[in-house]
Amino acid sequence: MSTEIKSKRITVRDIRQLKGGQPIVVLTAYTAPIARLLDPHVDMLLVGDSLGMVLYGMETTLGVSLDMMIAHGQAVMRGSERACVIIDLPFGSYQESPQQAFRNAARVMAETGAAGVKLEGGSEMAETIEFLTTRGIPVLAHIGLTPQSVHALGGFRAQGRLDEEAAAIRSDARAVAEAGAFAVVVEGTVEPVARAVSQELAVPTIGIGASPACDGQVLVVDDILGLFGTFTPRFVKRYADLADQVEAAARAYADEVRARAFPTAEHCFGAPKRHPQ
Ligand code: KIV
Repeated sequence: MSTEIKSKRITVRDIRQLKGGQPIVVLTAYTAPIARLLDPHVDMLLVGDSLGMVLYGMETTLGVSLDMMIAHGQAVMRGSERACVIIDLPFGSYQESPQQAFRNAARVMAETGAAGVKLEGGSEMAETIEFLTTRGIPVLAHIGLTPQSVHALGGFRAQGRLDEEAAAIRSDARAVAEAGAFAVVVEGTVEPVARAVSQELAVPTIGIGASPACDGQVLVVDDILGLFGTFTPRFVKRYADLADQVEAAARAYADEVRARAFPTAEHCFGAPKRHPQ
């Protein structure tokens, strides 16, 4: 019996090998239909805990549960066939101990079939990253502006402006890479620090608000589609204005229903249809 895994998906090893080469393209995805549309165009789909804010209207990502991440992770896996899918470990599901992190990451891996997990934190998470990676769980690290620590950081503000902040980010980057992370998300970090980190590490950096110096880029899909209007950070570029289109479609539908212009015979079962003579 063959034990070969037959998958057309991009692997974490493929991502790791893109270091210094063609920029790595990453978008978040939370649902099967959106994953299906993004899949041919990206290297990685990140089921980010940003879904708490983007889909559920939460003010921060702190209220997201492991069950939510697993349900959305399963949806994204069903909707995609090519991209490497990575799922965020939510706040409180990994910080307590390496063992807690392993238990919850193992659930994510077993119940979704994703290629790995992402977790936030630098040097303080190195022991946990090593614990997971040496036990077969690929880890995407996340340093710089880490939204799960928004209260400790004093809000969503760019990191690395002060010398001591810059030094801490560089040492965090080294620590998570040495611990075995296959790549590192660098969020909301000033350009010189993101550049230094990208040059220093042997694994790829994936930037969000961290300049083109990174080995790849990630954005929240609803931001690039112009669907998430509450707040648009400076580092986001809108590639579409779907919010306007959704509103226009809802208005047109409401107008037609109120005017009894919808539904017509073609949308009805059993209504007489006009046939060509
Ligand atoms: O939760 C998320 O979507 C993320 C990315 C934006 C990096 O962590």
